[in-house]
This record gives sequence, C-alpha cells and structure tokens, in this order.
Amino acid sequence: MIQIFSNSLGEEELKVLKKVFESRWIGFANESKLFEKEFGEKIGERKVLAVNSCTAALFMSMRILGIGPGDEVIVPTINFIGVPNAIINAGAKPVFADVDTKYLNILPSEIDRLRNKNTKAVFILHYGGHSCNMDELKKHCNGLYILEDSANSIISKYKGKNCGAIGDIGCFSFDAMKILSTGNGGAITIMNEKLFSKAMEVRYLGIKNKQSGIDSFKEKQKRWWELEIASAENRYLPNDILCAIGRVQLKKLDSFIKRRKEIWLTYQEAFKDLEFIERPPEPLPETESSYYFYWIKVKNNLRDKLASYLVNNGIYCTFRYYPLHLIKHYKSKERLPNAEKLNEEVLDLPLHQNLSYNDLEKIVNTVKGFFKKI
Ligand SMILES: Cc1ncc(COP(=O)(O)O)c(C=O)c1O
Repeated sequence: MIQIFSNSLGEEELKVLKKVFESRWIGFANESKLFEKEFGEKIGERKVLAVNSCTAALFMSMRILGIGPGDEVIVPTINFIGVPNAIINAGAKPVFADVDTKYLNILPSEIDRLRNKNTKAVFILHYGGHSCNMDELKKHCNGLYILEDSANSIISKYKGKNCGAIGDIGCFSFDAMKILSTGNGGAITIMNEKLFSKAMEVRYLGIKNKQSGIDSFKEKQKRWWELEIASAENRYLPNDILCAIGRVQLKKLDSFIKRRKEIWLTYQEAFKDLEFIERPPEPLPETESSYYFYWIKVKNNLRDKLASYLVNNGIYCTFRYYPLHLIKHYKSKERLPNAEKLNEEVLDLPLHQNLSYNDLEKIVNTVKGFFKKI
C-alpha cells in the first residue's frame, strides 16, 4: 500500500539516540533544551516550550489563558478533535464555524456571526499547510485571543512570519504522521512573557520555578526537595529521546518541504485537465506553504467511489478532517453548509517526501484510470 504519510528517520537519528542512551539520562535535559532553542530560532526567534504532543499543547493553551466554565471558543469545524476536546475539558464550550470552500480555513465572517460576550478566543487551523489570511482574521478577532493550531503548518509563512508564531499561542505536532516526526511530541509558543512563565508551570504539574533536583541542590544546599505549586496541573514534559531526534529532523526540514512542494506541483500539473476534479488552490500571495496535504475535490458524487478504487488498488487516501459539528458527542445544532459540502467532496492523496517517481506515476495513472472508466 502506498501510504498517505511517511517519516524520514534513519541512521543519523539512530546515531544521536545512541548518545542519549549512553548518557544514562533519557528524561528532559540538554537535548530537550537545545531542541526548544533551535526550533524557536527556526520559527522566527520565538520562545518555545517542547511538550509530549500537540494535543498536550492544545490542552495547555486553555489553562495558560484561564479559559474555563462560561467561556466560548470559536473553532473551524474542519479540524482535529483534540481542539474541542481541550476546550470541553477546560469546562468551556467549543462553537463550530464554517470554512471557506477553497482553502478549507475558517471563514472570517463566521467570527462576527458566532461571537458573543462569552467568546474568549478563536482557535484557527492552517489547513494542509496553506496559511489563513491573518490580517483579515485579526480584524474580525478584535479583542479575542488568536490561537493557532500549526500541526499542519510547521514552517508555513504569512508575510514572512511563521504560522504558529503570529497569534497569542501556537501549537505544533511532531507525531508519527507529521513532517518533522519524533514519534510523539509537540511544541507550544506563547507571545506574552507573563503567560510564558505560566506555561512553564502548566507544563509540569504546576510547580513554581521548576528546577531539577540537582539545580535546586546547587542553589539551596539544604532541603532541596521542598517545592511549591501554583496550581494543580498535568504533566506534559517531553524527553531527550524525542528531542534528540527532533534536532536531527530540524536540519532536514527544509529539504522535506522542498520535495513535498515538487510532488504537490506534479499533482497539480497531472490533474489539470480532469473534468471531475477541482485541484487545491495555490497558497495565498505573500505566504509559503508546508504542503502538508494534497487535497482534491471530486464532483458528481464520485468521491467515495474514487476513495474505494484507490484503496483497492494499493493507494491509501482519506479525508481530513471529518467536520466536528457532525460528531454526535459534541451535540452541535449548527448547520454549516460549506463544510457539509466539502465533507462529500474532499479527498487527501498521499503526500510525503519518500514518495518515489514510480509511486507518483502509479497514483496519477490510477486516478486518471478511474475517470476513464466512468
Ligand atoms: C490539526 C491537528 N492538530 C493537532 C493534532 C494533535 O497532534 P498530536 O498527535 O501531536 O497530539 C493533530 C494530529 O493529527 C492534527 O492533525
């Protein structure tokens, strides 16, 4: 089966892992701190906290901003379930917004329609790595926090600024299906200095001025095990195994994205004359994409048939993300027509840096073959 995502882990990652093992300390230490520094530099000199998943970053963002009972957060409905789960877990209410049919990003006008006196934040997604129009969004978010789920858009840019480093908080994922992959892992960026120290506490059990036992010993010399907490929090620390891999992956990241863009453009060219397919848009002017998804819209109710045909011919494909307002558990009463139409038409095809020319040829020919038969 040709997979939809794939990582590029190899000898170099194994080499650094050997060193971490030999150090006899696999917890949060030097590799983790260096990864935070280097990732922060990569996304535009931002202060970063590494965490054990992007879902952790989503949950943390609610605690950092003090979002809780009585508050509402607007979320584009085509999005990952971790976002509403984090909002609900904080005791607040997710409010689902419709998306734009071209980019699948939140429709800015939805923010005006859905906001009320309880609205505290808008949690946006840069779908497939194509940046939202941040200037436009900021106009509509006036007075609300902007949180960026940047799991799709690791080094996407909007007017020279890294996605995930534009709003008040940005959340990144390094899980097994992401462009920079450490198996699990994530990062959170926070604009405001005061909120950053809150984030440090939220990341590790609420402990104030978190120091290692050894650092504490050096400073106090006696009773170094005593501690205080600011609030009762979860534990979201990553470790040196993940972060050592992350440091190697970071060096390769630009080359991954270069290759993804080549594949993306190959698909664009190959599908340009197909009557029943609408191709994805180019990234907005003055933006750069990470090319995380290649998505097509399939007309004439043929999407599901094409999906089955591809899978039966050894090509995995899927639709990301099943609209949140249709998930029964969330009990949403919204009818969001754009997202509901996209839910019938959109298909994500394999896109990763390890696709060979033979794989690509097979995918393109199989898609074309399907339309020849109908
Ligand atoms: C858009 C989006 N946000 C957040 C996440 C959560 O990432 P993680 O698996 O690192 O928790 C994912 C994972 O698939 C995602 O696709």
